[in-house]
Amino acid sequence: MAWFQTRWAFEESRHGQAFREYLIRSGLRSEAEVEALEASVFANAWTLPFETSGKMACYGALQEGATYTAYKLQEDKARCAGDSVLEAIFHLVGRDEAAHGGFYRAMIQLELAQDRRATIADLADVLSCFKMPGDGLITNYQQRLRNSGAGISARVFIERVVGPLLITLQISRQEFKQALKTRAMGTPKHPASSDASGSSCGRPALRSVQG
Ligand SMILES: [Fe+2]
Repeated sequence: MAWFQTRWAFEESRHGQAFREYLIRSGLRSEAEVEALEASVFANAWTLPFETSGKMACYGALQEGATYTAYKLQEDKARCAGDSVLEAIFHLVGRDEAAHGGFYRAMIQLELAQDRRATIADLADVLSCFKMPGDGLITNYQQRLRNSGAGISARVFIERVVGPLLITLQISRQEFKQALKTRAMGTPKHPASSDASGSSCGRPALRSVQG
């Protein structure tokens, strides 16, 4: 896990560097504008949304899947616009995101083998509270996505991220819906779920999926 975190942090920072270089070299943004954005982002610390590694694996699988999907759409847009450089950037960065998502899916599969009911309850809990890491860190995050069209809709998130994840994990929709229902009813969690976070976000499901 430690090696994954190290490699993951390096790859995500490399993505930021690639986008930074593209924006400056293309003239779309000045170096000062990019630096101002970076300063505002780095002024805040990111707090882990969940306290257990099991829930963070669920969060990672959903978040990386949403990021990959958003980048794939941007890659398609760049291709249509004839911007081969941006198309290549989104393709290569999206390939990393797909690999990250695969790692988290593998983690969830291990958790499922150990305690299926608790793991599905974790996934239901994470999905019910889900929002992207940038939401809350980046100023006017939702508005920026609306204006740029860079986000994905809740429908796309369900169809291209959540649905395929459940299929890969061999969790039936009925089984997952039951877990969501149990969570909504506030039924005490399975003892083995060891929910240290006591998470109860109270937000409606899928309030914000754009990434
Ligand atoms: Fe990633």
